[in-house]
Amino acid sequence: MKQETILVVNGPNLGVLGKRQPEIYGRESLEDLPRLLHNFLGKEAENIYLDIFQSNSEGELIDELEMATQKDCQGIVINAGALTHTSLALADCLAWIDIPCIEVHLSNVWTRSERIRHTSLIAKHCQGVISGFGLTSYILAIIALLHSSLSK
Ligand code: DQA
Repeated sequence: MKQETILVVNGPNLGVLGKRQPEIYGRESLEDLPRLLHNFLGKEAENIYLDIFQSNSEGELIDELEMATQKDCQGIVINAGALTHTSLALADCLAWIDIPCIEVHLSNVWTRSERIRHTSLIAKHCQGVISGFGLTSYILAIIALLHSSLSK
């Protein structure tokens, strides 16, 4: 079976997952993703390579997304953190990239008290949005990328 590469892009403050407000974002960290994927998909996970990237800087996130277009990358899962709500630059980047992309959030951003979290500048350039399931949001997005017939 063909090896699929999924780029998992994480924005500001997501490098400290597990330590950061665990009551909102959970106790697991990004390093737990491959194990979690294996728990959900079993043998199918062996054909999936997760290229996990995290940066606190907007420019580095855009550079990484641009580089994905030069690689053999079948899909992108992006948790842009707070940049979701503010970054026109990230939205402009996702607008031209023709790799299927799913926006994810650990928390359910629509139930959060700060209204700015209810807005996403990047969602319109993604196939879908999954929010509110902790790290399982990422797994659901990967399953959607692998099994959905939608393309960009
Ligand atoms: C987040 C939600 C954002 O509003 C917040 O700024 C984050 C994490 C989430 O995964 O729930 O950093 O993207």
